[in-house]
Amino acid sequence: MENPKKYILAIESSCDDTSAAVLCGTKVLSNVVATQEIHKQYGGVVPELASRAHQQNIVPVVHQALAKANIDKKQLSAIAFTRGPGLMGSLLVGTSFAKSLALGLDIPLIEVNHMEAHILAHFIEDENQTAPTFPFLGMTISGGHTQIVKVTDYFSMEVLGETLDDAVGEAFDKSAKLMGLPYPGGPLIDKYAKLGNPEAFPFPKPKVDWLNFSFSGLKTSILYFLQRETRKNPEFVSEHMTDICASVQHTILEILMEKLQLAVNQTGIKQIAIGGGVAANSGIRARLKDAEEKLGWQTFIPKFEYCTDNAAMIGIVGYLKFEKGKFTDQSIAAKARYAIGAN
Ligand code: KG4
Ligand code: ZN
Repeated sequence: MENPKKYILAIESSCDDTSAAVLCGTKVLSNVVATQEIHKQYGGVVPELASRAHQQNIVPVVHQALAKANIDKKQLSAIAFTRGPGLMGSLLVGTSFAKSLALGLDIPLIEVNHMEAHILAHFIEDENQTAPTFPFLGMTISGGHTQIVKVTDYFSMEVLGETLDDAVGEAFDKSAKLMGLPYPGGPLIDKYAKLGNPEAFPFPKPKVDWLNFSFSGLKTSILYFLQRETRKNPEFVSEHMTDICASVQHTILEILMEKLQLAVNQTGIKQIAIGGGVAANSGIRARLKDAEEKLGWQTFIPKFEYCTDNAAMIGIVGYLKFEKGKFTDQSIAAKARYAIGAN
């Protein structure tokens, strides 16, 4: 007799995290993430090293995900994988692995857009969280992405704005690097910012049309500011660390909140669903909570492990596509640039 339960194995390998998850319907049974530590010493992700590490990690990570879920691969209903966007060498590892395994097990293959997955992560079953209802605004903020999306249905999304250069997480990390902090510096800026004055050092906000973002100018103005001040006082950074962090974070949050406000004004939608690693930032969480009280917004942030790159979010899209019979065939290829709604 056919097993009525749908078990989906999901694989994510778009950047520097090798991840595999097993879902039963919308419920996550396991979500294993191998974070590649090797990039720390370079202060950013090195693509060639990332793909090599994925190659080493993928088999043990998938084994671990199946073992944790207590599922045999013969019980799987389908395999979902990240097709793009991301680093080509990294995507190729997950894509090739997923295709081979689906072929070997003779089960359907489901391709997933990583950016859609960040947004649909809100629909992972979680007793402590409620999911947004349609329509809502999704904002994905991480080391690789900064995007505001209008979501009218699971597979009906429109990008309203995105970054024209650096992602917001990069802005945090690059600013931290300028202050001599280790990679990734975002969490450290957050930590020090709590102790500093957000208005100590005003940095200019970029003028970018409509709902798009730009963060590279901010990085440059921080660089010039720090060069100027350390010429006068070589100990400037260490003596003012908390104030610099608070000011940098304040500027970044102002940029994000202004664009969100614009998106709300433009669409009339007040449900905001946040994802990506920067969603961990305590400042953005406080600002969103404030907007709930003062502006009547309803905001949603999934469990942190579903905010950062993970395979569970690929699995939820896999399940939703499975239900609609949206499968792909073996001719599928990874796509480094892959816009939302392109398939
Ligand atoms: O989603 P993620 O793990 O990976 C991708 O980039 O896809 O996001 C990592 C990014 C890094 O830039 C990191 O500095 C940032 O998220 N981040 C934070 C915080 N925690 C992580 N940025 C600011 N405040 C935080 N608490
Ligand atoms: Zn991501």
